[in-house]
Amino acid sequence: MSSYYQRHIFFCLNQRDNGEASCAQHAAQAGFDHCKARVKAAGLAGKGAVRVNKAGCLDRCAGGPVAVVYPEAVWYTFVDNSDIDEIVDRHLAKGEVVERLQLPDSVGR
Ligand code: FES
Repeated sequence: MSSYYQRHIFFCLNQRDNGEASCAQHAAQAGFDHCKARVKAAGLAGKGAVRVNKAGCLDRCAGGPVAVVYPEAVWYTFVDNSDIDEIVDRHLAKGEVVERLQLPDSVGR
């Protein structure tokens, strides 16, 4: 059985107010919004294609903002919209891993 979405990206949008690091302090919402708009504009959104979703804490806060793409289970960190564009244009559209934006395995909470 094929999966409903070809690729699924989850953005942590968690906000912490206790002084600990959280992705919301690092423009996670802006990255999510930009990704959603670019995927839609590129005609990539929907069944059999790409879904962009919000997530709570993914427990890799030290690398925030973070996002993860399935089914490849590739984790990313990003700084600005051009980083998001590269993830959309290369990974979500073509399945190419954007190595320069990958989150190192050692990064946790
Ligand atoms: S706050 Fe984003 S991974 Fe924990």
